[in-house]
Amino acid sequence: MLTLLGIPGALRQGSTNRLLLAEARRAFGEAIQTEADLRLPLYDGDLEDSEGIPPEVQTLADQIARADAVVIATPEYNKAPPGVLKNALDWVSRTKGGPWRDKPVAIISAAGGRAGGERSQFALRLMLTPFRPRLLTGPEVLVADSGNAFDADGRLIDPRYQKSLTDLMQALRQEAHRG
Ligand SMILES: Cc1cc2nc3c(=O)[nH]c(=O)nc-3n(C[C@H](O)[C@H](O)[C@H](O)COP(=O)(O)O)c2cc1C
Repeated sequence: MLTLLGIPGALRQGSTNRLLLAEARRAFGEAIQTEADLRLPLYDGDLEDSEGIPPEVQTLADQIARADAVVIATPEYNKAPPGVLKNALDWVSRTKGGPWRDKPVAIISAAGGRAGGERSQFALRLMLTPFRPRLLTGPEVLVADSGNAFDADGRLIDPRYQKSLTDLMQALRQEAHRG
């Protein structure tokens, strides 16, 4: 059984990226599902020196290490990923073992604007490259006007989004099976 880790880049409960992540999980198919919590302290070298890696950061690093595949759903804040995601990447980079290395990773985004978070996704790709994961290049899933993209049951309304998400998640599944 594969383990899929979902990382929601937005903290709010009603986040459309959380809805998109739930759709991604369904599209991935049968798996042990885990979810990251990015409510971490802000990275602070003094905190790291005095107390080491915070337990919630280590939990996240362990979740990444144990996952066969990771999907990150990012909003777009001012044309970039939110600070909570960068903060998480910086903290995890301070843990031992390089958990991202060779990990199959898919990025998806939901945003209020017309481009569906395209620039945010592109920036997140650059942010992940130092850790050398196996980043899928497509198909791209960029959900525009995300406040109106889901029905009352939290399902994607536009079948084209559903199709590209299914294709991406099946590609992620194949990568996970390659080990
Ligand atoms: C600080 C901030 C900046 C934002 N900047 C952008 C932006 O650059 N592009 C965009 O498409 N939407 C932008 N939005 C709107 C978000 O895409 C929208 O709130 C979206 O629903 C956030 O994702 P969520 O539903 O997962 O919380 C911004 C929202 C906030 C709060």
